[in-house]
Amino acid sequence: MTMKGGQAKTTLAINFASRIARASRDVLLIDSDIQANITTTFQRDHFCNLANIVLGKVRNFEFIQLAQHLSFLPSGGEAMVEFSSYLSHTNFKDTLFKNLLSTINHNIIVIDTAPSWNEVSRNILMYVDYVIVPVVTDYLGYSGCDQIMSYIDEFKQSKLGQCKAEVLGIAVTRSHPRTKLARTITAGLQERWSDLLFKSMVEESVSIQEAPAFQQNIFDYKNGRTRGARMYDQLCREIMRRIVRQRKNV
Ligand SMILES: Nc1ncnc2c1ncn2[C@@H]1O[C@H](COP(=O)(O)OP(=O)(O)OP(=O)(O)O)[C@@H](O)[C@H]1O
Ligand SMILES: [Mg+2]
Repeated sequence: MTMKGGQAKTTLAINFASRIARASRDVLLIDSDIQANITTTFQRDHFCNLANIVLGKVRNFEFIQLAQHLSFLPSGGEAMVEFSSYLSHTNFKDTLFKNLLSTINHNIIVIDTAPSWNEVSRNILMYVDYVIVPVVTDYLGYSGCDQIMSYIDEFKQSKLGQCKAEVLGIAVTRSHPRTKLARTITAGLQERWSDLLFKSMVEESVSIQEAPAFQQNIFDYKNGRTRGARMYDQLCREIMRRIVRQRKNV
C-alpha cells in the first residue's frame, strides 16, 4: 500500500504471490487498482472480478489460474468506480467484501492496491492481517512512505481497535545504491523505521522492468537466472519469515 505512485506495489505483489506459489502454497492474487496493471500484465480479464463480486453481480467465484497454486482475481477496471461509490455508503460494514477475503480457500491472499488513500484501500485495510509498504529510495518515495504510515496509524486509531491490520514491513523495491541520495534515504528509513524495514533491498534492475513485457514474473523470466530474481527471492523469503514470526507471536 502506498500514497505515492510507482513504488513497485504491483511488481512486489506479482513476484511475492508467484514466489509463494512456487513454494507449493495456494495463493490468490487480487488486483484492487482501477489501473488494472496486473490484469494488463497477464492480459487476462474476466467478468468474475473484484468489483462485480462485491457488487453482487457474480454468484459463483471463478478465479483465473495464472500458474500452479496461483489464482488471480482481476479488479474490474472501470467497474471499480461503482464499487468504490458502493463502499462509500457501507461504512466498512460490507459483508460481501469481508466474506470474499475470509472464506476463500487459499493459504494466502495478496492484494495489489491503487496509489491512493481511497475507499477501496481503507476497506481492504479493515479486512487484512498485514500491510507491506514498498518504497523507492528518492525524496518523494520517502515522504510518501511517511504519509501512508501516518494515515494507517490514524485510521487504526479512529477505528478503536476494529482495524487489526499491522504494517508487516517497509520494503525498498527500487534503489540505486551507488547514488548519495539513495544512501541518504536508506539511512533515513533505517533510522526512522529500523524494526520495520526489510533488510533485503531490491535495486534498480533491467530484468525487473522487462519481465512484465513478457507476461512473466521475475522467477520465470529468463528461468530466474537474473539479478532481479535473486533480489526478489531474498526479499520474499524475508517477508515470509516475518509473517511466520508474527503468527507465532499472536
Ligand atoms: N527494481 C526495479 N528496477 C527497475 N524497474 C522497476 C523496479 N521495480 C519496479 N520497476 C518498474 O517501475 C515501474 C513501476 O512499478 P509498479 O507498476 O510495480 O509500481 P506501482 O507502485 O504498482 O505503480 P502504481 O502506483 O501506478 O500502481 C514499472 O515499470 C516496473 O516494471
Ligand atoms: Mg500498481
